[in-house]
Amino acid sequence: MAHLTLMMIKPDAVENGHIGNILEKVTAAGFKIKALKLTQLTQRDAESFYAVHSERPFFGELVSFMTRGPIVAALLEKENAVSDFRTLIGATNPAEAAEGTLRKLYATSMGENAVHGSDSDENAMLEAAFHFSERERF
Ligand code: CMP
Repeated sequence: MAHLTLMMIKPDAVENGHIGNILEKVTAAGFKIKALKLTQLTQRDAESFYAVHSERPFFGELVSFMTRGPIVAALLEKENAVSDFRTLIGATNPAEAAEGTLRKLYATSMGENAVHGSDSDENAMLEAAFHFSERERF
């Protein structure tokens, strides 16, 4: 059965010109793009998207990073989308990410780690609703 996950190409990877490379690897890995946009998070958007991390010491840094420039948001479909996409992106810390993963290839640090992937089917649905209206999904 096909599942959905929500990807964001974060501001660092957009700044560094990696949008095309990342979309190529994502589709080559078997993910189908169901929705796609270039957008920029406001402070309020980022605080709400990352509310689960609001007590963490890096929260301020995370919000200022995620709002500093455009991102690409995409809704992706594949069997086992959430876990397969997390395997494709690699560990949060790029120094620990496996060879060939998106973070190994494109991330620069733990904070600026190039790509977001949903951590559960439930959060994928919430994150999809955060970024896309029904008419933006195909
Ligand atoms: P992600 O796992 O996509 O979502 C939470 C984000 O918080 C994570 O990516 C990093 O961008 C950021 N993050 C997690 N841990 C740290 C940390 N120790 N220092 C800075 N940022 C972090």
